[in-house]
Amino acid sequence: MKKQKIKVLISQEEIQKKVCKLAKQIDKDYKQKDLLVISVLSGSIVFCSDIIRQLKTDFSLDFVRVASYKDKQSTNKIELIASVKADVTGKDILIIEDIYDTGKTLSYIKNMLLKKKIKSLKTCVLVNKKTKKSNKTDIDYLGFNIENEFIVGYGLDYNGKYRGLPYIGIL
Ligand code: IMP
Ligand code: MG
Repeated sequence: MKKQKIKVLISQEEIQKKVCKLAKQIDKDYKQKDLLVISVLSGSIVFCSDIIRQLKTDFSLDFVRVASYKDKQSTNKIELIASVKADVTGKDILIIEDIYDTGKTLSYIKNMLLKKKIKSLKTCVLVNKKTKKSNKTDIDYLGFNIENEFIVGYGLDYNGKYRGLPYIGIL
């Protein structure tokens, strides 16, 4: 396959600084809580593993897997591929997501969890894209705001590739 050029948008250093800052805020807010971190697969795996290694707070970890993208286009349908396995009753849930684009994915997952007897629900998102949001939802911990560009790296992919880049770039 021909290699495409990637322009660095957010450097490895900038990301690591932000991860530390976010983890500190989360630690402060979850001191007396029963934290369950839910990572949205597959994109948030790198961000999530960096965040949890900075946390001083005890937590348990689970995953939810959804799919919505094909090539560079968001499809309208969200497909739930794997749901949370943990008992979420009474838990203080923090969803960790890579990117907030149209908002469909996060809203879908939030609505799914809000139907259960959880104690609280917050979201931590690495990148907010300036896109017209079809489903607006609050982000409690946000890393970066970017323009409407398709990005890869640090967990984010283009058709399954580039997830391992230590920085975020534009294809
Ligand atoms: P939303 O449902 O439109 O908010 O889309 C969120 C999901 O689409 C994210 O979890 C990503 O997996 C994917 N996505 C959105 N924008 C990008 C991008 O620029 N690069 C890679 N994946 C993206
Ligand atoms: Mg994602």
